[in-house]
Amino acid sequence: MKIVLKNGRILDPSQDLDMVGDVSIVNDQIAEVGRVSSPEDADETYDCTGMWITPGLVDLHVHLREPGFSHKESIITGTQAAAAGGFTTICCMPNTSPPLDDPALIDFILDRSASPEAGGIFVAPIGALTKGMKGERPSDLASLRRAGIVAASDDAFPIQDAQVMLRCMELCRQLDLPVATHCEDLSLAGGGSMNEGSVSAVLGLKGMPRTAEEIQVARNCMLSLETLCPLHILHVSTWGSVEIIKQAKYLGAPVTCEVCPHHFSLIDEDMIPFDTNYKMNPPLRTKVDQDLILQAIEEGTIDCIATDHAPHAAHEKDRTFDEAPFGIVGLETAVGVTLTHLTHKGVLSPLETIRRLSTRPAEIFRLDAGTLKPGRTPVAQVTVIDPAIEWTFDVNKTFSKGKNSPYHGATFRGKPMLTFSGGEVYCDALWPQRIAMMA
Ligand code: DOR
Ligand code: ZN
Repeated sequence: MKIVLKNGRILDPSQDLDMVGDVSIVNDQIAEVGRVSSPEDADETYDCTGMWITPGLVDLHVHLREPGFSHKESIITGTQAAAAGGFTTICCMPNTSPPLDDPALIDFILDRSASPEAGGIFVAPIGALTKGMKGERPSDLASLRRAGIVAASDDAFPIQDAQVMLRCMELCRQLDLPVATHCEDLSLAGGGSMNEGSVSAVLGLKGMPRTAEEIQVARNCMLSLETLCPLHILHVSTWGSVEIIKQAKYLGAPVTCEVCPHHFSLIDEDMIPFDTNYKMNPPLRTKVDQDLILQAIEEGTIDCIATDHAPHAAHEKDRTFDEAPFGIVGLETAVGVTLTHLTHKGVLSPLETIRRLSTRPAEIFRLDAGTLKPGRTPVAQVTVIDPAIEWTFDVNKTFSKGKNSPYHGATFRGKPMLTFSGGEVYCDALWPQRIAMMA
């Protein structure tokens, strides 16, 4: 079986490649990149004129909700949403029920995601950093590592005790396992539901101060410098966090960080008051934070983009703002938001855009992904993006079970059109050949 992607702009940050050409996939593996020797032998040919051909996108921060909360999302619906969003590799967070602190649960995730309905999308599990995500003692991280976790985290339940965090990081350093942290001091932010500032004051909602995040960013960076444990800071949202991470990197700490599309595209003033589709943790911050975050993305202090895809059921979000759970879905809007707010505004070049959505996240958790080099991924993982197409996001037409998005009705420029993972192909309804076929 030979598939040829013809005449696209090939963007592969892993080899600093930005050229117009063809890519072939033979028997589920990438065969040729740039020029294809006998294109006429292809079983399937896709005309990619005007489109980008990129390594499959990689998302380090996804909540798949299984086991325990499959009414919010399942591994199958989550991987389908990933494919529709251009992602071929996603890392799933451990705040499930039970939490992912047991090797048997890692086996379950890997088995389930290898089933045909998951469409060939790779799921790389993140194990619970502490037993039961209670923040008291480390999980059996060596066993979890053997079972296949790619990082450890207590995302959503940030470890409050610095001594516990230090022990976890010492252990992970020995295991050479990256630690990923949601940074929040609950003695400052607990009970809050949005950014603390003038907007929360007007709405009369309890705020979450920026310092609650920054104190833990600083603490974890210093513990990483001390232990040399690789630390990945999840969803950076304040200008102070950016400055601390910049300093930690300068000092030589093995620290990386991500930003979510909502934090560079929205601020607290954009919220529709009391609409729980704008409630997430960390919360939307201010214009000053957004400006500094955009600068940090441009200069590279922020390593990558991750969605924090956090689906919830409608009845759960349909509560008062302070009672509703934190989180919004993100897999199916990430490319649209990123191209609209970063690439088309000149913050990132096309090649840098793909680096932050694919090659760099793969490096951070050492995943066999993020490249078009033949043989470097278990199967061919390729995404085709139309950077120019304008489309309007309709949350009712998504694959995710979660409909909790602040972008319903928003128009974006740029959309993933085809997602290849091995023999599996996801093809968007707007793909021009589909439209031609339907006409
Ligand atoms: O917005 C969020 N949603 N932040 C978190 O920390 C948890 C996550 C979730 O699991 O829903
Ligand atoms: Zn999260």
